[in-house]
Amino acid sequence: MARSNRKIRFAKSKNSVLILVLSISSLLLLLSNGGKIGGSDDNVLKRGLDSAQIRRDGMKLYIGNCLSCHGVHGRGTSFGPPLVHRSYGASELSDQAFAQAVHYGAPERLWHFGEMKPLKELSQVQVAQILAYVRAQQTDAEIR
Ligand code: HEC
Repeated sequence: MARSNRKIRFAKSKNSVLILVLSISSLLLLLSNGGKIGGSDDNVLKRGLDSAQIRRDGMKLYIGNCLSCHGVHGRGTSFGPPLVHRSYGASELSDQAFAQAVHYGAPERLWHFGEMKPLKELSQVQVAQILAYVRAQQTDAEIR
């Protein structure tokens, strides 16, 4: 009697280990987000429009795609102009024009760095995330 009880207990604990392993691996799958920085558009929309989260994701995308030319926090480099600049505040460069520059590139216009090539890999949601981050940097610098 006592013996079979122990067996049942063992079977139960084996099950709970399996359930634990399964739930941990599905959690990891969820967290890894398909390995994409900033998450897929679907995940962004599912999470809702949490602006702090959007800016954080935007910063990651900015670091990966824009920082090499536009510098740390949009302060510029010798390859590209600062985006935290009054020429690019919302009153000078609309959100639409910003997104167009990323999707279609921008000709040499205000500076002498040459043109900006289009960044075709980025989705519209990802560009919106980057824009949210850049606008926040501009607002901190009192650029409107
Ligand atoms: C290889 C360098 C390079 C990279 C990478 C780059 N840019 Fe640019 N970008 C430039 C240069 C150079 C200009 C300035 C063109 C000019 O003379 O007005 C520019 C201009 C812009 C403008 C202004 C466009 C206009 O209409 O005046 C925006 C907005 C912009 N970049 C956003 C971005 C964003 C966002 C990213 C990342 C997703 C990015 N850029 C990545 C080089 C780059």
